[in-house]
Amino acid sequence: MKNIILTGIRPTGKLHIGHYIGAVKQVVDIQNAGNYDKFYLMIADSQSLTDNAGNVQKVKDNIIEVALDLLACGVDPEKTCVFIQSEIPALTEMTFYFMNLVTLSRLKRNPTVKEEIKLRGFEESLPMGFLTYPVSQTADILAFDTNLVPAGEDQKPMLEQAREIAKSFNNLYGNTFILPDAIVPNEKSQARLVGTDGKGKMSKSLGNCINLSDSSDTIKQKIMNMYTDPNHIKISDPGKIEGNVVFEYLNAFVQPDSFKKYLPEYENLDQLKSHYKKGGLGDVKIKIFLNNIIQEILQPIREKRKTLEQNIQQVYKILFNGSDTANKVANETLKRMKKSIGINYRDIIKID
Ligand code: TRP
Repeated sequence: MKNIILTGIRPTGKLHIGHYIGAVKQVVDIQNAGNYDKFYLMIADSQSLTDNAGNVQKVKDNIIEVALDLLACGVDPEKTCVFIQSEIPALTEMTFYFMNLVTLSRLKRNPTVKEEIKLRGFEESLPMGFLTYPVSQTADILAFDTNLVPAGEDQKPMLEQAREIAKSFNNLYGNTFILPDAIVPNEKSQARLVGTDGKGKMSKSLGNCINLSDSSDTIKQKIMNMYTDPNHIKISDPGKIEGNVVFEYLNAFVQPDSFKKYLPEYENLDQLKSHYKKGGLGDVKIKIFLNNIIQEILQPIREKRKTLEQNIQQVYKILFNGSDTANKVANETLKRMKKSIGINYRDIIKID
């Protein structure tokens, strides 16, 4: 069997270090490991519109921002087919047929969608498109005969739904689709990064993210203002690790050689944590350490992004070329799908 990997990302804002550690780094690592036949990375603009119908400009603008971020992080168009969802009409058509295979009550049970609906406060004004986006996501996955989807915790229900729909389709119309599996992320990328204010997930609207495109001064400023332990007032006070954003970030970003490079008086994170807990270690010191680590990761990304920004047309060209490739594949799958359903009239009925 072929290994076909696909993942998607919504273009609703610039990418931040939470995206990087939670998804993008893993995608680039998988891409570079090369253990696949095809790798697709989709910019999910249509999915973004399901709760942004009146915000088209935002979605449109962020296609290029997200593309720049992805390429800057090492996504390589020679290895990965990067494309735009709305450029692939077959996906919309497939979605329409898949909708017949899922019930309203099943859609309402999807825990990720449930959570998102609550967060957005939709209540009675819930757009149908939003409720059904997992069906469209099923089409995204099945259109490319994807067998592997890198999926964090919140994407698992989507994959479950895709498998159910694929199974129903195969049972009803004959074996047509592969049942996709999740690539479970490693421990580091599983951790949801909190915002710099410690108040929950990073989110653009809360202004608590470090963006990949932030300047080095901005990054430093955000780190120096990070939430730590409000009761750790004097250096000699004992400090708390739980809920301390600096330590949460250190957990996610520390590298094997970080201590040797930037804080040689400690051997590892455990040592640093126990000193902090005991008292005698100041916030400024740990923040400067974290700043050094994050600057080292983001500097090459920022520089690559700046270079890419010089030639936006070239970036669009990558996206359009990727979309052309994706279109060919998805159109073939749609044909196969319609044939399985039996609505391939022009094959069945011959007119001379
Ligand atoms: N739902 C994903 C997100 O919110 C984006 C996405 C769209 C996706 N289609 C996909 C992910 C297909 C994996 C596979 O980021």
